Amino acid sequence: MQIAVVFHSGYGHTAKLAEAVAQGVRQSPGSKALLIDVGQPFDWEQLSASDAMIFGCPTYMGGPSSVFKKFMEDSSSRWMKQEWADKIAAGFTNSASQSGDKLNTLVSMAVFAAQHSMIWVSLGLLPGNNASKASPNDLNRLGSFLGAMAQSNADQPAELAPPEADLLTASKLGLRVATIAQRLSPKAA
Ligand SMILES: Cc1cc2nc3c(=O)[nH]c(=O)nc-3n(C[C@H](O)[C@H](O)[C@H](O)COP(=O)(O)O)c2cc1C
Repeated sequence: MQIAVVFHSGYGHTAKLAEAVAQGVRQSPGSKALLIDVGQPFDWEQLSASDAMIFGCPTYMGGPSSVFKKFMEDSSSRWMKQEWADKIAAGFTNSASQSGDKLNTLVSMAVFAAQHSMIWVSLGLLPGNNASKASPNDLNRLGSFLGAMAQSNADQPAELAPPEADLLTASKLGLRVATIAQRLSPKAA
């Protein structure tokens, strides 16, 4: 299984999450992660050859960063051919505020995946950090379902943010996508 982690990061925080997602993918035996930074030139054929795609970008002005949005629009020639139909898709995002309107970014990614006739995989973790004995160190501390959310304090560099809990949450998404991609693969039948 080749799982592409297709991401943009302006200042490095979301790139750290992408690496964490890739680590999760690698925990699934037989799966390899292909990190694709859409802010750099990349090979579309290599991307299309992937069994699954996990999209990631920061939330800028309440939605996907413009670099990631450009990737979405540039994929339209692939969309015309429905080249990615029936591949697994999932998403993650990161922003400075606890909410920061991150959900809108994940919704955009899910709609994008649907336009490509892809199969959206949710985060698959119960919400953490939402009870009196819960903690900000919990997995899924921001309580997302549609994909993985992370929060990076605005005054901290990528060496310090997002925190470990968010990186671990992102790695769980990578592992889940790789596991489901294996299960649904015609190669597994
Ligand atoms: C142009 C711009 C718009 C932003 N808009 C939001 C926003 O809507 N909500 C939010 O919580 N943070 C917002 N932020 C903060 C970023 O999401 C945050 O710094 C994030 O960690 C950046 O990720 P990156 O280092 O991968 O680029 C914005 C930052 C920039 C530069």
